Amino acid sequence: MAVTKKKQALQKSSPSKRKNAPERKARAKSAIADNTIACGDNLDLMQQLPDGYCDLIYIDPPFFSNTTRTAAARDKTKKKTANAYTDNWTGGIKTYLAFLQPRLVECHRLLPGSGTLYVQLDYRAAHYVRVLLDTIFGDRNFLNEIIWHYRTGGAAKRWFARKHDTILVYAKSSGKHTFHPQRGGTFRTDGLNYDEETGRPYKTTKKGRLYFDPDGPLISDVWDIPFLSTVARERCGWPTQKPLALLDRILAASSNPGDLVADFFCGSGTTLVAAHQQQRRYYGCDASKEAVRLARKRLRDAG
Ligand SMILES: C[S@@+](CC[C@H](N)C(=O)[O-])C[C@H]1O[C@@H](n2cnc3c(N)ncnc32)[C@H](O)[C@@H]1O
Repeated sequence: MAVTKKKQALQKSSPSKRKNAPERKARAKSAIADNTIACGDNLDLMQQLPDGYCDLIYIDPPFFSNTTRTAAARDKTKKKTANAYTDNWTGGIKTYLAFLQPRLVECHRLLPGSGTLYVQLDYRAAHYVRVLLDTIFGDRNFLNEIIWHYRTGGAAKRWFARKHDTILVYAKSSGKHTFHPQRGGTFRTDGLNYDEETGRPYKTTKKGRLYFDPDGPLISDVWDIPFLSTVARERCGWPTQKPLALLDRILAASSNPGDLVADFFCGSGTTLVAAHQQQRRYYGCDASKEAVRLARKRLRDAG
């Protein structure tokens, strides 16, 4: 019986069908409109996308904080907040990882050889998820553990204040991945002068002037980017909204104009706004109707 079924399956997948597979994939790809923001469970939505669909994926899933996140009231005259999404996991870390695992497997399938995945987490689950990602992507494809350091209020008295998120970065195939080194900030070196004509920084050495890159030093894996304050103009009311500056850097480093950038936990759409502003195409989704409404509004406002 099992043999007959196998034969039938082989017959169904005839040589001509197999030969046309790339064509069918391309057709499926073109059937998805560029710049989509979908509402629903991301696993279902990801499963509808063809292999290699996304050049860059950034995800900022619930952090295993065991809290319920609330959004700002839509009507600013009322102080009431609404539940935005829950980050509660009955069963603990096992339940959380069981939720994330199939979604990370989908991310791997959706990247082409040149693609990269960024996963943002914090001290609560980053170490577990890194092990999971090593299994799915292979530890040879691990690129970075980025520390996003911020200065928010609140001082801890019983331990050091926790003021960073961890962003795990994996290539689909290390060496083939897109990467543009980024520069910024100031050189930490004594005796820096500036060229009278060009303004380029230099140091005088025994051999003459040693010039430095005018765009600043290469950026390392520790990023000092301000957290969005409660009154920041960028704020749109989503509780865990990330700053555009963070996504700007990720997109500039790991994608090219015209690439497709995806965020499957898009919340208020920060990644999609960054993609739009940097002439990338985007695909975003979120399970919350309110998040999708905010993301669509931000994209409309971005013009
Ligand atoms: C940390 S927030 C993302 C915030 C976003 N980066 C921003 O800048 O606004 C996590 C998001 O994941 C969404 N989410 C949780 N489970 C989901 C699921 N199964 N499918 C799609 N979205 C989900 C939540 O609704 C929430 O908006």
